[in-house]
Amino acid sequence: MMFVSKIIAKSIDTIFNMTTFESFLNKFNEKQWLGVLTSISPEIHEVDRNAAQIWFRFYPLELFRFLQTAEDKEKAVQKFVMQGDYELKTQIDSSHRFLYGHRFWKETKDAIVKHAETFQGETGDLANEIRAIAKVAATSAKTSADLTVGITAVGLMTLVQVGFDAFKASAGTVSIDPKMKNQPPSKIVEERAKDDSQGILGFLKTVNKEWTVKYIDDTDSGKFKLMNDEEIASGAARDQSKNWVERDFRRGEGVIPVECRSAACGTCWVGVIGGAEKLSDVSPRERKQMKIFGYNQGDEAKPIMRLACQARAEGAVSIVIPPWNGVFGKKIYGNVEDVELEPATTSAAKLRETISTAMKDE
Ligand code: FES
Repeated sequence: MMFVSKIIAKSIDTIFNMTTFESFLNKFNEKQWLGVLTSISPEIHEVDRNAAQIWFRFYPLELFRFLQTAEDKEKAVQKFVMQGDYELKTQIDSSHRFLYGHRFWKETKDAIVKHAETFQGETGDLANEIRAIAKVAATSAKTSADLTVGITAVGLMTLVQVGFDAFKASAGTVSIDPKMKNQPPSKIVEERAKDDSQGILGFLKTVNKEWTVKYIDDTDSGKFKLMNDEEIASGAARDQSKNWVERDFRRGEGVIPVECRSAACGTCWVGVIGGAEKLSDVSPRERKQMKIFGYNQGDEAKPIMRLACQARAEGAVSIVIPPWNGVFGKKIYGNVEDVELEPATTSAAKLRETISTAMKDE
């Protein structure tokens, strides 16, 4: 894997006249980036610990590299049934809006640009590079480094995927939800998974308990209600307070894009930023399908990446909705066993067919 990674890094380096710092960053494959992110996790404030992990799942490096070097990118995108905004180059300043550290994006971006312009390959240690830049960004933003480590890692991966010129040229715009602007990070952590009061006689309630799901996407945030033990996507579909499809053509039924509602299409993936432990355990089918889709879920019973049509809530949760979906697991990661795909709905027939083809493909 390391050998392949070096070849890819070398060929990309040759094709696109990179800065020394980009060449350094491109030596690492996705697994190595995730390993580094995990190793520095204790240095990231709790408010952004899972958020940074989720962001790296939303913008997988190996998928980016595959598409970048594909002979026919359009064909690959079609083959992977990719819908929505999957490229970081169109969202350099906004993809990380759900991180608390986003509010320090301008300082972080400036620190990364300066570091890239002066980098001589001193340490060769990715974790140390992240730490060093995060420290500069924190000093500049007059905050603590634990609040800039996560956004720095995200910024460096953004640099890898958009290139130095585009990265430097972006405005560095910060867009913070007004409701959270003046909240300290500890308060935000607390609020994300705070269970709803069920009223004075709440202890008598069983099935008719209600829970709040808070959501955030690349442009907005809000909340909707779920009945106890209900799938997240079902509650999301009852929220017709906005013209969702006007914002995102994938949102034909509500806040969260859905298609099959049976773990067959991958449209409804979300990151769980708070309260993951209050969701149902991942079923064998959801786990298997997440591999097929390529969503890099992890082996925990209650991971931070879920399918909203499968995960049922027994408490309040906060989620992040990605701006795209696709089916690329087998081709990109090659870790998918053959599975029987169960029929879902008529509208998902084309997706099922494409997924079945992808499963049989090389
Ligand atoms: S809606 Fe298709 S996997 Fe959830």
